[in-house]
Amino acid sequence: MSLSVIILAAGQGTRMKSARPKVIHELAGKPMLQHVVDTGRVLQADQILVVIGHEAQQVEQAMRDQDLEFVLQQEQLGTGHAVMQCHDRIHPGNDILVLYGDVPLIRAETLQAMIDQGRNENTVVCLLSFIAANPTGYGRIVRNSADHVRAIVEEKDASDDLRRINECNSGILYIQGSEYAELLAELDNDNAQEEYYLTDVVKHAVSRDHFVSALICDDEMQVLGVNNQAQLAQVESIYRQRRTEELMQAGVKIVDPARIDIRGSIQAGRDVVIDVNCVFEGNVVLGDEVSIGANCVISDSEIAEGTTVLPMSIIEKSQIGPYNNIGPFSRVRPDTVTLDNAKVGNFVEIKKSTIGKGSKVNHLTYIGDTDMGSDVNIGAGTITCNYDGAFKHKTIIEDAVFVGSDTQLVAPVRITYGTTIGAGSTITRDTEPGELVLSRAKQVTLKGWTRPKKNQ
Ligand code: UD1
Ligand code: CA
Repeated sequence: MSLSVIILAAGQGTRMKSARPKVIHELAGKPMLQHVVDTGRVLQADQILVVIGHEAQQVEQAMRDQDLEFVLQQEQLGTGHAVMQCHDRIHPGNDILVLYGDVPLIRAETLQAMIDQGRNENTVVCLLSFIAANPTGYGRIVRNSADHVRAIVEEKDASDDLRRINECNSGILYIQGSEYAELLAELDNDNAQEEYYLTDVVKHAVSRDHFVSALICDDEMQVLGVNNQAQLAQVESIYRQRRTEELMQAGVKIVDPARIDIRGSIQAGRDVVIDVNCVFEGNVVLGDEVSIGANCVISDSEIAEGTTVLPMSIIEKSQIGPYNNIGPFSRVRPDTVTLDNAKVGNFVEIKKSTIGKGSKVNHLTYIGDTDMGSDVNIGAGTITCNYDGAFKHKTIIEDAVFVGSDTQLVAPVRITYGTTIGAGSTITRDTEPGELVLSRAKQVTLKGWTRPKKNQ
């Protein structure tokens, strides 16, 4: 049976106190709603519908180009009304699964278990409930003496007796394809909030003698909704704990699991060590025996086996080769590739460049738009002048070049195989292979010169 996932994301999220709609606030580096969409994808639904309303354009823009069907809910008249807007778009016969754009930590396994339960027991409606430490604000699950689910009653409509129930509605719900249209058609807004409650499908199913079941989620964190910045921070911290736990299970040594930030995914080899206060963003791959020092930020990069990244380094959208030494205080900017045994040292910035095998750029240097061969030695304070104010130009540094300290290489320029450049040079023309090149004024001595002195 095919599945249509419907994600509710039309609400305003007033308590975020933000001009941006709630569901696109970032959790671990991507919109909260994106997490829900990604989880929905795991279920192999044949369509994902996203109901938008408040600041619809902003939501659509943040979630563009990814095979989603946006459904506009002009006025937010309730969760049931939101699902009704999808009616014409749902592929006929599909079962539906309703998710919330502001409940981002739900796991695909939990949803799959709920769908399976719904299908195996041939229940028309299967909902995801949980036992709340504090049920205030949630819809309560009402069961009969045989423990069968009879209704969901919203807090605002509940008697004091019902409010004592601590089994609560997560909002996540599965409805069998053959029945959902009729159940939705019966919804009305005759309740305390004058809203079309999706939750009322339960009582309508029961009155038609359909079987309704509930999967009780034993992990309240998965159904946590985000309504304000404090809850967003809480959800972010749970996300971080999950990723950290997974990494440690996979054998990574994390020096202090309370001091690491993972905003994306890390794939790590054997015997990887991560020191404190590192931030990982996007997709990061760490090879065997990689060691990351304290206070590093690594985004969307691959670091090959045996490489050591020393403290305070930043690596962004780059590929670091095996057995490199990076840092301390290195900044590796996008599109950098380093090959085996390269060294990038302190206060060195590299951008859109290749550093060849065994080449060393150890101190106080800027290398940009450069192709560097192997066994090159770049002296302290070398700068590739790659920008003329309008255009970027390339620097080519061939194998076995030695660049003396405090040198400027004015691009476009080629430093040919084996050239040695004397310290303090400004190189503006291509060099001769194997020769010593320098552009330094001759040293002079002015005899008898005296330093100025202040009068006492
Ligand atoms: C809903 C459930 C409640 C459950 C709780 C869990 C109903 C009637 N109640 O209550 O049983 O315990 O969630 O958090 O369903 N939305 C729309 N369009 C609308 C209304 C809401 O897209 O017209 C979206 C919101 O953006 C939000 C979600 O649906 O993502 C839930 O809406 P909300 O108003 O927060 O529902 P609750 O009153 O919390
Ligand atoms: Ca809510």
